[in-house]
Amino acid sequence: MRDLLIAGNWKMNGSSAMSAELVDGILAGMPAAAGIRMLVCPPFPYLALVAGKVAGTRLMLGAQTVSEHESGAFTGEVSVSMLQDNGCRYVIVGHSERRSLLGESSDVVAAKFGAARSAGLVPILCVGETLDDREAGRTEAVIAEQLGAVVDAHGATAFRDAVIAYEPVWAIGTGRTATPDQAQAVHAYIRGTLAALDASVAKAVQILYGGSVKGDNAAALFAMRDIDGGLIGGASLKAADFLAIAQGAVAARN
Ligand code: 13P
Repeated sequence: MRDLLIAGNWKMNGSSAMSAELVDGILAGMPAAAGIRMLVCPPFPYLALVAGKVAGTRLMLGAQTVSEHESGAFTGEVSVSMLQDNGCRYVIVGHSERRSLLGESSDVVAAKFGAARSAGLVPILCVGETLDDREAGRTEAVIAEQLGAVVDAHGATAFRDAVIAYEPVWAIGTGRTATPDQAQAVHAYIRGTLAALDASVAKAVQILYGGSVKGDNAAALFAMRDIDGGLIGGASLKAADFLAIAQGAVAARN
């Protein structure tokens, strides 16, 4: 059985004081259950502070994006080695906000995925359709293109030890969650697409759901057979809310 991963994407929120308080709160209430892992992805300036707090605990650290380049004249960018130097084990790539607001193409996202993966940083590849896509029946075509860019660049085996997050754009920050059946259908499509290329990679890859996950809907989502945890935005900014989602993971496993 795959472990469940409960990941917090703090986005561009917080301060030093808030980061410290939030992490202290999560550490104080983290479930010790086997098979449930937890991860926080703070903004770059707070990585070192959070790394200091999570060192030696079961709470893991990740970043929200990374450069596809190793080093050099890329003003404002942050490299894979810098993230590792600051205690990160994971990095989110291709979040829909970066695709839509910052113009990241699937090819650029695939390059970021490859840069992370080849250095041993676990990429969390975000995929997901807009409401227009869904209503036009294009959900699977959109996911196929986003996933396909990574497969074309690095092969299906690149998803060994990687994570995928299905985040329907219409559910992000809207309070509107995909139903467990809607999410499961897309997760099964993602796993099936990979299974056609490499069955063992498809079986092992963790596929998270993201989009208005809360304490009261988490258990039903995580109980679905192809949903292996969540990528949480708004509800990861308060320890009690994030821990309620972790309890949903515990309930889904019992
Ligand atoms: P919300 O949980 O706020 O909907 O955000 C989801 C998300 O974008 C996580 O990456």
